[in-house]
Amino acid sequence: MKTPRKIGLFGFGTVGKGFYENLKKHPHLPAIISKVCVKRLDLPRIGHELYFTNDPEELLSDPELDIIVELIDDAEAAKIFVEKALLAGKHVISANKKMIGESLKEVSHWHYSFNHHFLYEAAVGGGIPIVHSVDGFFRDQEITEIRGILNGSSNYILTQMQLNQWDFDKALKEAQSKGFAERNPILDVSGIDASYKLSILAYHAFGEVPSMKSFEIESIESVTKEDIKKAKSKGRKIKLVATLKKSDQEIICTVKPETIGPNDELYSVDFENNAISVETLISGRHVFVGKGAGALPTGSAVLEDLKRLLDGYSYQVSKRVKTVS
Ligand code: HSE
Repeated sequence: MKTPRKIGLFGFGTVGKGFYENLKKHPHLPAIISKVCVKRLDLPRIGHELYFTNDPEELLSDPELDIIVELIDDAEAAKIFVEKALLAGKHVISANKKMIGESLKEVSHWHYSFNHHFLYEAAVGGGIPIVHSVDGFFRDQEITEIRGILNGSSNYILTQMQLNQWDFDKALKEAQSKGFAERNPILDVSGIDASYKLSILAYHAFGEVPSMKSFEIESIESVTKEDIKKAKSKGRKIKLVATLKKSDQEIICTVKPETIGPNDELYSVDFENNAISVETLISGRHVFVGKGAGALPTGSAVLEDLKRLLDGYSYQVSKRVKTVS
């Protein structure tokens, strides 16, 4: 076996632990977690063999670490750590959709200027390999539309309200206890989390950084039990649908609750599952469905990025990026 590459891991919450558990199942991979940076050293942890610190510099300035995996939920701190790690000549994997979605101009600069790679499959669609597919597989054909369910928590809430007549609050609490929701669940239910994911997909699909100011975003909090009952009586469901379209002039992004019928490909996508359909000019419509939230599915996407990094993979988007003001 090759000498293992050393990983510095930021964060040991839901996704961090999911990544750790997934990596443990692949002892053949030439990579080991060498140091973990967490905010609180006093909390009880799994992973007794791991070295924990609360000093980010112990990871960022360690020349022996050549891969940083950033899985914290503080977007501002994450941006600083990612940039410092890239500047220090380390490869970086992240799952931070807020940080990436809000900083796509900087991200495109990082992709363009650094030789070291920055991957983030887990930032969109949990365990679904959508960033990689949009960026790589479809790169030589035109994508005309992306449409899907991009937030597991809001889909879980709407599903429980429709199938089991749960209250919104009960369903949200359950989504939180299952580790699907963000620390601030407003991001999930408001459509903002899905909008970050949509803008990341826009960047990879069109090579452009969309202006999030022009996004039309609507929360599921406006959906009442009555709305759901009415939809159900007609054999329909309410889903939080994210849509991305490209016209000659602009990129149109919307995230809003829609009432859909059984012929819609999103109709049977329930609970924390996500689905993303990619419409292409040459090969038609492709629908990706899978678990969009949760420790192990999201951790598995981080592991896939690690495998790609070990194979020398980087995104193709930097070759065609164009910034939209
Ligand atoms: N809170 C997010 C969701 C986690 O529910 O989809 C996965 O990005």
